[in-house]
Amino acid sequence: MNWTQTHAVVTGGTRGIGRAMVDLLLEKGAAVTATGRTSASVEQAQQDCPRANWLVFDQSDANQRAELVARMQGKGVNLLIHNAGVQQLHDFTQHGEALDFTTQQETAINFIGPVELTQSMLPHLRHQADARIVFVTSGLALAPKRSSPVYCANKAGLRSFAKSLRAQLRHAQWPIAVTEALPPLVDTDMTRGRGRGKISAQSAAGQIVRGIAAGKPEIYVGASALLRVISRISPALAEAIMINR
Ligand SMILES: NC(=O)c1ccc[n+]([C@@H]2O[C@H](COP(=O)([O-])OP(=O)(O)OC[C@H]3O[C@@H](n4cnc5c(N)ncnc54)[C@H](OP(=O)(O)O)[C@@H]3O)[C@@H](O)[C@H]2O)c1
Repeated sequence: MNWTQTHAVVTGGTRGIGRAMVDLLLEKGAAVTATGRTSASVEQAQQDCPRANWLVFDQSDANQRAELVARMQGKGVNLLIHNAGVQQLHDFTQHGEALDFTTQQETAINFIGPVELTQSMLPHLRHQADARIVFVTSGLALAPKRSSPVYCANKAGLRSFAKSLRAQLRHAQWPIAVTEALPPLVDTDMTRGRGRGKISAQSAAGQIVRGIAAGKPEIYVGASALLRVISRISPALAEAIMINR
């Protein structure tokens, strides 16, 4: 990857892993367009990190996806990093709980958004040198946990989509690489107040950016590498380890 010839779009760049990736990519000399969902977070990011081009973008909204694609035309985008995501803790046996997102909203953000944005960006990406699409899924794509069934299903779905898309692009001889990055538990707003043994967003972002530079199809970040080995030897053991986390 020639970073100085790279224009990266990073969704969900205002906070957490996305923000750490934005900083690293800029440091390496890439041009970066980064997005956030709310204008407040985007304004703050703009102040903190003025070298990136910041845009408000809700990836669950089809009109906003079309607008983003239109804005990126002719801008030489060759690295699309689908990082934005939300996680709803949801116990289906409980009634009347206050959810931040319905199943439909969560799936629109975590799955439909990245899939449809990919579709709209493919005609542009296929004419770029060194084009790559990165899907940030999760170790939970390998084995789900009890407390967030929709999130885990979304991430497993995105993992499956990335595999089929990679095969389709190869079959059609379109020169676009596909990478899936699977972070473990990372210390961000998404995991605030829960979980143990978290790695920092900077560490996760560093491993993802190194994996992209190395042209890896799959990047198993931190403990996800061990989970992958376990899930290959014994899928049942991997599921038993993860289900109550
Ligand atoms: N943290 C973990 O332990 C962990 C583990 C495995 C995988 N992951 C995955 O890694 C990615 C980043 O997670 P994170 O923990 O860094 O998240 P985070 O700190 O909660 O930040 C989420 C980012 O996504 C943006 N966003 C939220 N809803 C959006 C929407 N509807 N459309 C577009 N952007 C939206 C947010 O924008 P605003 O700032 O404007 O709200 C923010 O930039 C996610 O895909 C997550 O599933 C995280």
